[in-house]
Amino acid sequence: MKKRINVIFSCFGFILMIACTNNGDKKNVSSNGAKLENNTSSTEMLNYKTEGSKGVGIITSFEHKPFDAQLANQGVELFVSKCAMCHGFDRTLVGPSLDGVITRRTPEWIMNMMLDPAVMLEKDPEAKALSKEFSSPMISLGLKQEEARAVLEYLRERNSSTK
Ligand code: HEC
Repeated sequence: MKKRINVIFSCFGFILMIACTNNGDKKNVSSNGAKLENNTSSTEMLNYKTEGSKGVGIITSFEHKPFDAQLANQGVELFVSKCAMCHGFDRTLVGPSLDGVITRRTPEWIMNMMLDPAVMLEKDPEAKALSKEFSSPMISLGLKQEEARAVLEYLRERNSSTK
């Protein structure tokens, strides 16, 4: 009987833990959402870089839209499973820190890098220059275009909220 109660308690603890984690995520999103509605300067902060190289690859143009929190949420999951082993936001890992990347590179350049890093590393002068600082190259992650777009939206959010 005692054992059973223990099991019940630990299950409850686990559920509580998950509930708390989810809650935290939701809070983040809604506080960002609220920031967007109330404050035009934070909308500006979420803007992409418009001038500069678009890189080499299939993305040649990009439609600038207001920040999309739902898309950014899809992007977080992809980022964690496909990018986080090589990229952080506060330090260099296998690849460079992506802090502020939205202000350094155009969205086209970033998406081309995500979709076909091999072509970028061979043909784009900026990617080539960057690769000199890293011993192993970025690999192709087999992302679909919509998935790369979602990750980009997360980078946009992340780059704004860390400032
Ligand atoms: C195997 C490790 C690895 C993975 C996985 C990886 N990258 Fe990279 N990334 C790199 C390296 C290394 C570079 C630097 C260029 C080079 O040498 O290839 C780089 C460069 C970049 C750059 C250019 C950064 C700058 O400062 O201009 C962006 C943007 C980027 N990666 C985004 C991503 C995203 C988004 C993902 C996930 C979809 C991802 N990377 C997955 C290793 C990786």
